[in-house]
Amino acid sequence: MEDTILIVEDNPTLREGLCEILEFEGFNTLTAGHGQEALDVMEKQLPSLILADISMPVMDGFEFFGRVREREDWLRIPFIFLSARSDKPDILKGKQLGAEDYLVKPVDHDELITAVRSRMERNEQLAIAQLRDAYQGSLLMLANAIELRDRYTRGHVERVTMYSLAIAEELGWDNERLEIIRFGGILHDVGKIHVRETTLRKTGSLDDAEWAEIRQHPQIGADMIATVPYLKPMEGIVRYHHERFDGKGYPYGIGGQDIPIEARIVAIADSFDAITSNRTYRPKLTFDQAYEEILRCAGDRYDPEMVEAFKQTYLKTGLLNLPPLS
Ligand SMILES: [Fe+2]
Ligand SMILES: [Fe+2]
Repeated sequence: MEDTILIVEDNPTLREGLCEILEFEGFNTLTAGHGQEALDVMEKQLPSLILADISMPVMDGFEFFGRVREREDWLRIPFIFLSARSDKPDILKGKQLGAEDYLVKPVDHDELITAVRSRMERNEQLAIAQLRDAYQGSLLMLANAIELRDRYTRGHVERVTMYSLAIAEELGWDNERLEIIRFGGILHDVGKIHVRETTLRKTGSLDDAEWAEIRQHPQIGADMIATVPYLKPMEGIVRYHHERFDGKGYPYGIGGQDIPIEARIVAIADSFDAITSNRTYRPKLTFDQAYEEILRCAGDRYDPEMVEAFKQTYLKTGLLNLPPLS
């Protein structure tokens, strides 16, 4: 769908001129001669961006801006003020009100198109970022709810995600790959939803049946998220986070490069958090002891290259004071 721009300008010549430029560039346009008329237009059709003059009869640009921002469903529409060159104080006021941008009349073709395009782009990025935050919030809530069933692991999911992110950043990964780590970390133990609480909370040693139950959680979790297209890229982390580099892990027993690299990272972060947390079967280790332990297991439990990245991260940050997830 083409983007529609609402032009609010009382001068018909200027209004037509703006329309022409925008339509030439492939935008649809709506027009109004003042704020009130623009509000009426918006009731019928929602524009993707508003371009509004400041001084106009009936309702001026500032009042119009205020009315637009009052409405929750109109709140996110990008708004650009048009002002005469002499209106310096007006420009200032427009900015204080929170308008995204202003253009000085007479508006130059390129300037207009650049401003409109960059505003729209920015708005799109914002919408994506908000959506992503909403996803993250919901998934974190789910993960934390599952975690609550297990009394030893409070905060585990978030710490594992932060450690994994720190390692991936050390490897110089781009945002897209970091996102896979982020969501994969949050979801890695989601399959524990199917492990009975009596098993999760058991204080004594587990019997064979209970171990078998625990060992299923990577597969169950991966199958759960594999059906959600948005989460599909994180499937490898969930499915293989308990595999070992030497092939002696569970549940598949695959090793080396067959384990997705993201899972090889999360495996280290997961172990690091497990051994620095209290468990019934053993007391927790200090961070430095856990660090030594991870290094000692390079090549058998963990991918030596990922251990090297972990080592560099640990030496730089101590895995403390990492940026929080939200
Ligand atoms: Fe796990
Ligand atoms: Fe875990």
